[in-house]
Amino acid sequence: MAATNTAGGHLSAVQTPEEQAGQEYFDRVIAEDSRIEPRDWMPEGYRKTLVRQVSQHAHSEIIGMQPEANWITRAPSLKRKAILMAKVQDEAGHGLYLYSAAETLGTPRHVLNQQLLSGKAKYSSIFNYPARTWADMGAIGWLVDGAAIANQVPLCRASYGPYGRAMVRICKEESFHQRQGWEILFELSHGTPAQKQMAQDAVNRFYGPALQMFGPPDDDSPNSRQSMAWNIKRFSNDELRQRFVDMIVPQAEALGLTLPDPDLKWNEERGHYDFGELDWNEFKSVIAGKGPCNVQRMQRRRQAHENGAWVREAAAEYARKEAAAQQTADTALIGA
Ligand SMILES: [Fe+2]
Ligand SMILES: [Fe+2]
Repeated sequence: MAATNTAGGHLSAVQTPEEQAGQEYFDRVIAEDSRIEPRDWMPEGYRKTLVRQVSQHAHSEIIGMQPEANWITRAPSLKRKAILMAKVQDEAGHGLYLYSAAETLGTPRHVLNQQLLSGKAKYSSIFNYPARTWADMGAIGWLVDGAAIANQVPLCRASYGPYGRAMVRICKEESFHQRQGWEILFELSHGTPAQKQMAQDAVNRFYGPALQMFGPPDDDSPNSRQSMAWNIKRFSNDELRQRFVDMIVPQAEALGLTLPDPDLKWNEERGHYDFGELDWNEFKSVIAGKGPCNVQRMQRRRQAHENGAWVREAAAEYARKEAAAQQTADTALIGA
């Protein structure tokens, strides 16, 4: 048994010559900033980190459908209903690509799903906030999908092939989501004073939680360094958060809305906007299950899973019949 220093500097026990060769190949691929594919050898920690990250991401897409699906029937016009429905369907698709990517790492879909339903797996805390008004559809699209893009564009270059490739398509759709959100807010902020106020209230409620989507501050994010060494993550939480703030300040000005942070101001020296401390106690409390909608979101997901049982059974039965028919055809061919 030899101890090998893997990419990222952590020690792992390599037991066989095959594993040793696998480790060397893995380290070379990471050093060359190239891609690891499902059949390649990979360290257990890398596999586990990816299963956790990719499935958490998939769960977030699926749970994230809830606050917006809630507004499809109440959207103010047929056009708005159609756009919102398309967006919510996109999120379902994102969940599906990502579950498929996670499955290539060896954990089956029903296990991932069970982890979500049992409460063992987490999803993005932003989806535990309620969508109270139509303007929230704007704020979610602009800020939440916007933060998702800032987070996900660098993930298109993630070292794990299936994850990176899934992110390319997802990011294209997220840009559409962000623009539709921005446009909802633009119309409201140029409407009646009451509409403008509704838009401002929505931005006030979603700004802080959207900034928290990048995760805890770097000092409090112990796994980030390893994820960066493995070329999964390309920028730290705080770097991504800063990029996002720099991006949305001029967009808020164009909307004619303000961002609810008295400390937000341009810092000439840094070439970035400074912004105030976020409420990390609130973040931790929402992650711990005490957000305004945690219970409701999970209840709804479990109910949807139960309601979908007949679809899964029908699909399995169809697959069984197809396989049996194929086997009969194969047997007849051999017999002929
Ligand atoms: Fe998405
Ligand atoms: Fe989205």
